[in-house]
Amino acid sequence: MKKDAVSVEIKNVYKSFGQQEVLHDISFDVAPGEIFVLMGPSGAGKSVLLKNIIGLDWPDKGKILVNGLDVYESQGKVVMGLVFQSGALLNSLDVFDNLALYPKEHRLYSDADIRAKVMHTLSMLSLEDAAHKYPSELSGGMRKRVSIARALVMEPQLLLYDEPTSELDPVMSATIAEVIATLKEEINVTSIVVSHDRSLAMAVANRVALMHNGRIHAIDTPKRFLASKDDLIRDFMDPSIDPKHPRFREKS
Ligand SMILES: Nc1ncnc2c1ncn2[C@@H]1O[C@H](COP(=O)(O)OP(=O)(O)O)[C@@H](O)[C@H]1O
Ligand SMILES: [Mg+2]
Repeated sequence: MKKDAVSVEIKNVYKSFGQQEVLHDISFDVAPGEIFVLMGPSGAGKSVLLKNIIGLDWPDKGKILVNGLDVYESQGKVVMGLVFQSGALLNSLDVFDNLALYPKEHRLYSDADIRAKVMHTLSMLSLEDAAHKYPSELSGGMRKRVSIARALVMEPQLLLYDEPTSELDPVMSATIAEVIATLKEEINVTSIVVSHDRSLAMAVANRVALMHNGRIHAIDTPKRFLASKDDLIRDFMDPSIDPKHPRFREKS
């Protein structure tokens, strides 16, 4: 049975670590089934925002609602998946066991059901043949696909990706973009993708947000982002400028 994709509402969220304000008055909504790409230079606050959405951390001020429920109220009612930037696979387990770990530990399904779910998820990502390989035996692109598969086993209604194409070559990045777009067709999921990969954003996003210095600078469709006359958006979309370039930190 397919669950419904969920909405996300972020309302006036603030977050500081000590004296450093990392999120400043962040507000935006993501519609059920939407692919929302959050771009921005390193240190903009993207990963912190993702952690707040999934409930690994919480705002100092403001609200984050998933399907109208506060994140802590949504626990047990909404299934979320997070694809970590590092992949976070366990090297001592093969691919199958990396995927089966969470459902087994939480005794959510019978062994036969877990097996079926894991194999189905692997096949969605063309990873059937890798089921009994160890993470160290896989290419970077395969490892990313395994991390996506692991987040998918629980059939999430909300899927959050942190830099899914970082450290991948352009061909592998394009494959990941295809995976993200295909998943939207195959399962009913709302996706928030953090990335400074412009081609990924342009390929998969329904809408793009540019985050800078803890603030949302702009939110628009990929097409309008590409055509924008705004200086910061233009700099960010310019393929000749590295998003880690210090000039992004000089402006506000
Ligand atoms: N747990 C933490 N404690 C203190 N500072 C943090 C913590 N997490 C993130 N930060 C700081 O918050 C800022 C934004 O970080 P982050 O969200 O990781 O940026 P990015 O946009 O690159 O993902 C950075 O300056 C980072 O050092
Ligand atoms: Mg980050």
